[in-house]
Amino acid sequence: MTPNQSRQYGVEIIGSGNGLPSRRLTNADLVKMMDTSEEWIIQRTGIEERRLCDWDSGEKTSVLAAQALQTAIDDAGITPADIDLIVVATMTPDMPTPTVSCLVASKIGCDGVPAFDFNAACSGFVFSISTVHELLKGGMFKTVALIGADCLTQYIDYSTAGRTASILFGDAASAIILRRTDDTSKGLIAHAMHTDGAGSSILLIPGSRSDHPDPENCEDREVKRVYMNGPMVFKFAVKKFPEVIQETLDLAGLEADDVDHYICHQANARILEAARKRFGLHEDKLRININKYGNTVAASCPLVFNELCKDGSIKPGQRVMFIAFGAGLTWGASLWQL
Ligand code: UT7
Repeated sequence: MTPNQSRQYGVEIIGSGNGLPSRRLTNADLVKMMDTSEEWIIQRTGIEERRLCDWDSGEKTSVLAAQALQTAIDDAGITPADIDLIVVATMTPDMPTPTVSCLVASKIGCDGVPAFDFNAACSGFVFSISTVHELLKGGMFKTVALIGADCLTQYIDYSTAGRTASILFGDAASAIILRRTDDTSKGLIAHAMHTDGAGSSILLIPGSRSDHPDPENCEDREVKRVYMNGPMVFKFAVKKFPEVIQETLDLAGLEADDVDHYICHQANARILEAARKRFGLHEDKLRININKYGNTVAASCPLVFNELCKDGSIKPGQRVMFIAFGAGLTWGASLWQL
């Protein structure tokens, strides 16, 4: 399609849907697998359970992503033939190549459309929704499927040695459909995206011993497993979350209360509560659903968005801000007029 450089469009979000694994891993289950307690997990994180892929039955990133997209397509009342770009935000593709987005296109019946993956770890959905907005606004595409999909639990050590990271993560996919509209009042109001590669050593999945922050003492079991310095990541998040919210509000010329919903990456309920208190937000403005899913990486923001849409909390004309931080390090926000 040739972009129409002579005009600009608005962008609207017309549907959403999830793809969730059927297996549940509760805190009580974790107590049987490692030295931990249900009280410790709930008090430190707010998580009660998370979903896990059943790898034996074929659940994996592309499968959950296709389920999420099919549900979002139905929700939007469109058909796969209406979609002209598929973007999957993920850091856990089924394999190095092909991309998850190519596999999803084929599963959904969209073969032939452009499709690519977008990796910014837990910030993947937030970075990509702002990027996709510009592709729609400029006229290059008309209807785009954007999916956040991650199955990080394949990189988790479920023993006492890995207990700090293992309690946090769950697998999930969640999709939205974005459509170009002639109503230019709809779409992105302001955004911020940041990275700091110098901070990469506090949260990573080492591909080999040499990637590990302490290669001399790195044990074989730690290679290709999530390495996380929990307290350092916590400190980074508590600082950057409010900073990036304020930066985006300033760019938009808005006050915190002018935004109806803060749709935040669900990494730890305590991090979210700190941000909520910092801006004096009512509980209704910052939904926390980490208790049900844990930290689902790039799927976490769209899972919250979908939940707010389905229970009627999100209404046409409202303003919503998507906010995330994660490995890289990466952090960003995307403020929308619905
Ligand atoms: O998308 C971004 C991903 N990551 C994050 O956002 C993570 C941010 N960090 C956090 O959420 C928190 O740091 C954690 C929840 C991961 C850990 O909480 P914490 O309060 O920072 O605990 P800690 O790592 O400082 O550990 C405190 C104690 C230690 O014991 P000692 O040394 O005080 O005796 C740990 O060994 O808690 C122990 N501990 C546990 N105990 C029971 C660590 N993990 C566990 C566990 N169960 N699962």
